[in-house]
Amino acid sequence: MTHLGIAGRELRVSYLGGPVVLAGATLKVEPHCRTALLGANGSGKTTLLRCLAGAVEPESGRVEICHETLKFSRAGLRAHRQRVQLVLQDPDDQLFSADVERDVAYGPSNLGLSDSDVRDRVDEALQLMGIEHLRRRPTHHLSYGERKRVATAGAVAMRPAVLLLDEPTAGLDPVGVDEMFGALDRLEKAQTTVLLSTHDVALALEWADSVAVVVDGVVHQGVPDDVLSDATLLGRARLKMPWASELAAELVRAGMIAPDATPHTVEEVMAALRLGVFDV
Ligand SMILES: Nc1ncnc2c1ncn2[C@@H]1O[C@H](COP(=O)(O)OP(=O)(O)O)[C@@H](O)[C@H]1O
Ligand SMILES: [Mg+2]
Repeated sequence: MTHLGIAGRELRVSYLGGPVVLAGATLKVEPHCRTALLGANGSGKTTLLRCLAGAVEPESGRVEICHETLKFSRAGLRAHRQRVQLVLQDPDDQLFSADVERDVAYGPSNLGLSDSDVRDRVDEALQLMGIEHLRRRPTHHLSYGERKRVATAGAVAMRPAVLLLDEPTAGLDPVGVDEMFGALDRLEKAQTTVLLSTHDVALALEWADSVAVVVDGVVHQGVPDDVLSDATLLGRARLKMPWASELAAELVRAGMIAPDATPHTVEEVMAALRLGVFDV
């Protein structure tokens, strides 16, 4: 695996008989750059991820991987799937083998690899996702969070350079979220670039280097503090800043913390308060 960039440029997608979902959406994911795709339900996040994965062909626009345009031909898509993997929001759309090991092995086995290579990839994917202990478990006995990590391991076993995760933390409890982020850290060290979708602004602020907000079929992308401080954009996207960020904005207005402070968590607000406006 090696970090690669991926981009969707001027993507236009509409479903049969439905409205235009993407109306010239451009999104860039630089290698090594943690990118979060934000937007309300129905804004087009999944559609955009499916375009990048080659599962939906845009009416116009193009997908580029490593500066080459994806060809939506059999050969083009086959090559693309070896570099880019999409993990669907609902793990039950992706898990179909009786036990975890067989499920994770499914993709590598279809690449025609030897048994020992398949075993290596399964071991690696289970380790990266922190689920070695689930190896022999029947998939239908797993919790939702465990199923999500197994479905992700199935994609990781393909050793993609780019992993597209559709709402990887939706429906997880706080420990499940931490476990997912621990896995994402390990994947990053293993040379995988991650783009994830979410409607959790706090999560995007904490994790992402770049955020891309889908509104009215187009994407507004930039560094998190810039993009997410645009209240009008957030309103149009039906997103909300975390309460700690809103409190921080009030504290800035009240002159209690430095005007250039941008804390987003309770710990950061407390640190900014301790620092005080006069000590900066
Ligand atoms: N296969 C499909 N056929 C018709 N309409 C679809 C299909 N998939 C998604 N849509 C519609 O496209 C819009 C965007 O959906 P989606 O990309 O799933 O958004 P999000 O992931 O942000 O919730 C929604 O209005 C949805 O109903
Ligand atoms: Mg979706």
